[in-house]
Amino acid sequence: MPNLELVRRAEELCKVLQQASYAYYALDTPSMDDAVYDALYRELQELEAQYPQLIRADSPTQRVGEHPLQQFYSVQHYIPLFSLDNAFNVGEVVAWQERCQRLLKQDLESGAGGQPQNLDVTDSSFTFLESICELKIDGSAIALSYRNGVLERGATRGDGTMGEDITSNIKTIRSIPLRLNLENPPDHLEIRGEAFLPIATFEEINQERSQTGESQFANPRNAAAGTLRQLDPRIVAQRRLDFFAYTLHLPSDLQHPELSQIKSQSQALECLQALGFRVNPHRQLCKSLAELQDYYNHWEEERHHLPYMTDGMVIKVNNFPHQEQLGFTQKTPRWAIAWKYPAAEMPTIIESVTVQVGRTGTLTPVAELRPVQLAGTTVSRATLHNSDRLAELDLHIGDTAIVRKAGEIIPEVVRILPELRPLHAQRFAMPSHCPECGQPVVKPLDEAATRCINRQCPAIVWGAIEHWVSRDALDINGIGEKLVRQMVKANYVSSIADLYSLTSEKLQTLERMGAKSADKIVAAIAKSKDKPWSRVLYGLGIRHVGAVNAQNLADHFPNVELLASSSPEAIGSIYGIGTEIAQSICDWFGDATNQQLVKHLQELGLQLQSSPSHQVAIAINPQVTGKTFVVTGTLPTLKRDEAKTMIKAAGGKVTDSISKKTNYLVVGEDAGSKLEKAQALNIPCISEAELLAMLETNTKSKNFFD
Ligand code: IVH
Repeated sequence: MPNLELVRRAEELCKVLQQASYAYYALDTPSMDDAVYDALYRELQELEAQYPQLIRADSPTQRVGEHPLQQFYSVQHYIPLFSLDNAFNVGEVVAWQERCQRLLKQDLESGAGGQPQNLDVTDSSFTFLESICELKIDGSAIALSYRNGVLERGATRGDGTMGEDITSNIKTIRSIPLRLNLENPPDHLEIRGEAFLPIATFEEINQERSQTGESQFANPRNAAAGTLRQLDPRIVAQRRLDFFAYTLHLPSDLQHPELSQIKSQSQALECLQALGFRVNPHRQLCKSLAELQDYYNHWEEERHHLPYMTDGMVIKVNNFPHQEQLGFTQKTPRWAIAWKYPAAEMPTIIESVTVQVGRTGTLTPVAELRPVQLAGTTVSRATLHNSDRLAELDLHIGDTAIVRKAGEIIPEVVRILPELRPLHAQRFAMPSHCPECGQPVVKPLDEAATRCINRQCPAIVWGAIEHWVSRDALDINGIGEKLVRQMVKANYVSSIADLYSLTSEKLQTLERMGAKSADKIVAAIAKSKDKPWSRVLYGLGIRHVGAVNAQNLADHFPNVELLASSSPEAIGSIYGIGTEIAQSICDWFGDATNQQLVKHLQELGLQLQSSPSHQVAIAINPQVTGKTFVVTGTLPTLKRDEAKTMIKAAGGKVTDSISKKTNYLVVGEDAGSKLEKAQALNIPCISEAELLAMLETNTKSKNFFD
């Protein structure tokens, strides 16, 4: 039996951990260091393992680790889950507002209900009912039941009357409290909200699934629904579902000093947050139609910057007595409406498939579509990505396909509806020869891409030149896509170096090219020789080297020789440059044609090195670059994170634990087991001062590759 002291300790640990969890997951303002949380969590776990009678239903340890279920059980909802009516334009929103006002007015005239606020019953013109706007989160609706303040059951929406009991999965969601933060909670409280997967997590899951050969989730909503119905809660816990609460059902006979005060949706949302839930912060009270419209316009754009999906806004009459008077239809509340953003997914017909060849020789199949309106624009082409994706879709010409355009993303074919396939439709297969040069294409086994490997392929040549002249590269004005193709077809250029031998006279022989424009272009090409090394590096078009990586690399490698002679390990050790990028750079410089090109560009006078002042400031240090550091203990002047950032900025790597690969342990006061382990492995231990000295030489050393 645990003594009283231990009982209290377990209770207090639960409370402290719950508060930290709330601050972290619901309020997004961490209040406790991760290591402290972990230590206290472990202490509680150990206590509970020793005395299982101490395990409380709301203990944070109860969130994970339940065993897989055989099946989910159907349960009847205590209160049915309604859905929402939709509006697709402002006219429909106005009609909804007018209907609400009319109904309230009728009620008032017939003597029912209280005096509605914001409603001038003597004025027949349009006045506005105070409404609260919320984001419509694109996930799965969840019903939560709390018995005496403790989470008793979590269920899916199902058909609105019956759902599935998914309590063990719900418990893994950290933004759902296992116990409400409320004195004297009522016997029963129902809370509703949306469980969802952040977009980044959805992408990670799909990536993992593609590696393991599992089918992809079409969107975060499906992924969330699939995860909620996963029978093994341990998998659910790994998936990091999240939840926004949006409905607090207050029993009609409720007598509670705080809860009975709640008279509006805005107060209910505040209360939900205080009870321990994560509530979406982007809610707004609106007092006019213009404010509703502003909210809609703002979020229709801004939603693309949110880490989760929203497909519209929900407008709710704010005042609870008004909501009560308005009531429900068969399926939906009269006091709320969803105003959806224009559809981002629509069905259309695939009329044909064309194949584009990119500057790296990658063949991309593109669906030519019967034009369709998507998120406000007409879409007539959509990418099919690669032949793996084609095979997955089993695409036939004439198929009906669901096409999606999300934000800035290029439209893509999400899926095919094979039921609607015309008879005798032909399956589309990737060509065996490049559509631009006619040479056979290759498909490496470990890649999804099909490639043309003919260096003289016009598509590769003009792709490379288009990239070279583009804004983020050498930014050569006056040379557009059309002109590049003309120049390649006329055999004036077959590599980027050839641009520098173009003359005005030669250019003037091209279609619609006057002397003035030709002179300007020649001058712009000549001026590009002053563009910095980072731009030239980006302009070379090495796979995976974007403008940001090029800048980063140019900062670390003051000239092309140093970069070209470095190992993938040395390049990959730069913070932000992964092994794939590093390998791609080494492959590129290992190629004889590319080496020729670099030499040629050098002879032409392009900047293949940093300007001298730049070199001194950021040349690299062999003591740091490519070396792995671990930082432990309290350092005399630097915070541990500061030291780590400085090491990484100098090209070093920082890891959390000591291994044989560790090169240095930076030791501060009260260093614990890491110091012992480093000593056991004979890893050099250095002080903060020694680290700073190393970083100091960082700016002076120029002989990294000596
Ligand atoms: S209120 C009785 N608020 O949208 C009204 N729903 O199309 C209950 N949804 O089934 C819904 N975000 O799953 C409400 N802020 C929000 C919402 C929201 C997403 C979902 C909910 C509902 C569906 C209706």
